[in-house]
Amino acid sequence: MEVIIYPDKEQAAAAAADYVAGQVKRNPYIVLGLATGETPLGLYKNLIEKNRKGEISFAKASSFNLDEYCGISADNENSYAYYMRKNFFEHIDIKLENTHIPDGSSENPIIACEQYERAIKGAGGVELQILGIGADGHIGFNEPTSSLSSRTRMKTLTEKTIGDNARFFGGDASAVPWHVLTMGIGTIMESEKIVMLAFGESKADAVAGMIEGPITAMLPASVLQTHQTVKVFLDEAAASKLKLAGYYKWVLSRKPIAEW
Ligand code: F6R
Repeated sequence: MEVIIYPDKEQAAAAAADYVAGQVKRNPYIVLGLATGETPLGLYKNLIEKNRKGEISFAKASSFNLDEYCGISADNENSYAYYMRKNFFEHIDIKLENTHIPDGSSENPIIACEQYERAIKGAGGVELQILGIGADGHIGFNEPTSSLSSRTRMKTLTEKTIGDNARFFGGDASAVPWHVLTMGIGTIMESEKIVMLAFGESKADAVAGMIEGPITAMLPASVLQTHQTVKVFLDEAAASKLKLAGYYKWVLSRKPIAEW
C-alpha cells in the first residue's frame, strides 16, 4: 500500500484526481470502478474540471459502480444511480450506456448480481477502482465479517452504517434501506489498481486498522494489504491514528518517480 497524506481533503482529492487522470490518459478505454458517498465528491469535481478543460476524455471509458440500495428506483434522489448522474456522469463526456450500477430494484436480485459479475468480466475487468471506507471498515457495502472472497450479492447493512448514511436521507435512519447490492470483496480485489480515499477524524480508526492492523474480515478494508497496487489518499485527520505516519511522509517526499 502506498499511503499518501495531505494536510486537508481538498489537496488529497486533487492529488487523487491527478493520478486517476493520468490513468485515463494512459488508457482512454479504461474500465473504472466507482464509489458514491461523501468522500469521492472532491475527486469527481476535479475530474469534471479536467474533462471540461479538455485535459482528459471519458468518451471511450466505461464504469461499474460498487453498490446500490435495494428497493429504490434509479430516479429516486437517494439512489446511487441518481447520485452518479448528478455528481459525475452528467458533467463529463462518458456515454451513459457505458456506465453500470447494480440493479437494486430488480425483482430477481440473485440474477441481477450474477449478470453484474458477468458484465464486469465481459468488459475485461475493472482497471482502476475508486473506494471509500466506512467507519466500521467496510468497502463497497461489505460489512464486517463479509467473506474476503465474496462476489456481487445482496447484503444487509449494519445499524452503524444505516445511522451513518441517514445524513443522505434527511437525517431519517428509518428511511435508509436495509438491503443493498454490492460488489463482493473478491470482485473488488480483482481490479488491477485501487485508489482508496478517506477523510476526517471519524475514519481514523478504520484507516489505522486497514493499513497497520491484522488482515481480518472484522475490518474488510484490511484485505487491501494483500492487493498489488493500492494508493491510499488521506487527510491529516484520517491519518491521525497511524503509527507510521512519519514514515509514509518520508517515503512520499523522496518518491523517485513522480506519478502526479
Ligand atoms: C459507496 C460505498 C461505501 C462508502 C463508505 C464511506 O459506494 O461503497 O463503501 O465509500 O460508506 O461513505 P462516505 O464517503 O459517505 O463516508
